[in-house]
Order: sequence, then structure tokens, then C-alpha cells
Amino acid sequence: MKIRTESLSKTYDKKNQALRELSLDLNLNGIFSIIGRNGAGKTTLIRILSTELMPTSGKGFINDLDVVEKAEVVRQEIAIVPQEARPLPWLTPLQTVSSYLMWRGYSYREAKEKGKEALRELGLEGKEGEKSRKLSGGQKRKLMVATVISSEAPVVFLDEPTTGLDYLSRKELWQLLSKMKKDRSIILTTHYLEEAEILGDQIMILDQGKLVDIGGIDHLRSKVKLPYVLKVHSGNFKIEDDEVQVQPVSEKETFVYGSASKIYGLVPYLLTNKMKFTVEEASLSDIFEQYLGNEEEGGNDEKEDW
Ligand SMILES: Nc1ncnc2c1ncn2[C@@H]1O[C@H](COP(=O)(O)OP(=O)(O)OP(=O)(O)O)[C@@H](O)[C@H]1O
Ligand SMILES: [Mg+2]
Repeated sequence: MKIRTESLSKTYDKKNQALRELSLDLNLNGIFSIIGRNGAGKTTLIRILSTELMPTSGKGFINDLDVVEKAEVVRQEIAIVPQEARPLPWLTPLQTVSSYLMWRGYSYREAKEKGKEALRELGLEGKEGEKSRKLSGGQKRKLMVATVISSEAPVVFLDEPTTGLDYLSRKELWQLLSKMKKDRSIILTTHYLEEAEILGDQIMILDQGKLVDIGGIDHLRSKVKLPYVLKVHSGNFKIEDDEVQVQPVSEKETFVYGSASKIYGLVPYLLTNKMKFTVEEASLSDIFEQYLGNEEEGGNDEKEDW
């Protein structure tokens, strides 16, 4: 699947620039994770690409179809779980999924069968006949995900699908999405960077409506100054070196971030002094911090005078 944007901009209320001339050209096989601070523009981008919101200027394309001019065609290709989506409280989960499927053109019988299957995949089979208002927050979120999964749309947008899900449910959803990506493309946003890293074949960092970087985890890691981390599990470890970043974690643990040569250069010293340690590649959280950590707090929200 292809996603392309050309100088895509969105300004809300004539002053709040959520997207600023965003240009990207992505050939996606699998999962596209979009990450960024609160207010970075992730939801705005998803709403434009999924034809829900008009851009202020610029263009967006899904599989070379203009999302404004060919919105009707694009809509048949996509399914979306918006960030704030909740099921209608008076419908049961099975009614929710199957009515969505019938609206997409499935027969009543097919819709019911597919609905049941999707609810089972999300672990909601015991709840299929309950009114949705009786579901917990996480169960409601799972129901919304079940709804789009059941549709078999080739392009699926999930805006923070795992927010509010317990750890085990989140991991189950990861497995499901990994299975799903074999025959469709998934565009997801998340604040769980572990999730963005595990799932994302391509990862985009967005900040204040602008593209910071895009690529696989190895590409992003290759762009930061401190791509390795040494985790020393010893109270006696001390180091002074301007080229590494030292982060004391507890009395007995210190993390040291640095280049490969710097980090591996410390290993003989640790071995000689019989200190326990591990060396790892920097995680997406570490990388994200290096990209954005030095900036001032907050997104591009307008400051109001009180
Ligand atoms: N409907 C709206 N009207 C006015 N401003 C909006 C609207 N929706 C979003 N914004 C503004 O646009 C900017 C980007 O918001 P957006 O929702 O796209 O961010 P986000 O990256 O999805 O953030 P989060 O991680 O908190 O969901 C923010 O500054 C926000 O205040
Ligand atoms: Mg959002």
C-alpha cells in the first residue's frame, strides 16, 4: 500500500497549525506506527487520510487516490477506529459489529458470522449479548477494534487502539495485528513506544505538525548519536566521559548511552572488575528521547492570556 502527502497542512480556527507542510512518500508493507507528543498532529493526519477532515492546503493520497477528490473510493478501501470512538451504549457488541458489516455491504448472515469471529478474536465472546454500556473501558475499545478487523478492509487506521487496555490484552492485540498485517496494511498511533517498535515496520516521528523522521527502527537508530546502551548492575561503577550519557537508575544500576565503540570500549574494564552488565541497542523510547527530549515541553498549543 502507498501513502503519500504533498505539503499537507491543517490549521484549525485560523491559528492552530496542527500539520505544517507535511510531505511523505511511503510504500508500506505491514504496520506503520505514528508517534509523537500530545498535540503533534497524529490524529489530524489520520482524520485527513481517512477522508474525515479536509486539509487546509496540500494533498494526501492512499494508493494514489486523492483523499479529497476520490474520497468515496478511498472510503471503500479503509476502516478506522478514531481516537475517541465508543460503541453505541444501547447496542450489544454483536449488534455493533454486525450492523457495521451490513452497512459495508455484507448480508445479515455473513455479518453475524464474521461479527462473532471478530469478537472471539478480541476475547469478547462472553459479552456478545450484553448491552455495550455495561462493558469496561478496555472492553469498549476492543469492541471498536473488533468492528474494523471484521470488515476485511485492506487499509486499517487505528488511532491509539491500545490505550486503556491491560498489559495482557495489549499483547494479545499485538499478536492479532501481526497476524492481520499479512494481508492488509495498518496505520496506528500509540504512546506506548515499545508497541510502536515491536509492531512498526515503518515508524514516523511527528512533532508540531512536522515530520521529524521516518523509517524502520534500524534507520531511526542509525540517526542518533547514542545508539547503544550499557546497563551496569553494580554499585561501584563510576564513569566520566563527555561522549557518553550516564543515567543512574538506582543505587545498584547505571545506564550508559553511547556509540558502539564507546560502549564496547568499556567492556574490558567491566570484565576485569567483575561487574555484571548487558549491552543493548537503544530502544525506540531512548531514540525518541534523543530526537525530542531536548526541546521545550509541550506541543504547538496556542498560549492564551488569562
Ligand atoms: N477540532 C479541533 N479544533 C481545534 N484545534 C484542534 C482540533 N483538533 C486538534 N486540534 C489541535 O491540533 C493540534 C494537533 O492535534 P491532534 O489531535 O492531531 O494531535 P495528536 O498528535 O493526535 O495528540 P494526542 O497524542 O494528544 O492524541 C493540537 O494543537 C490540537 O489542539
Ligand atoms: Mg490523537
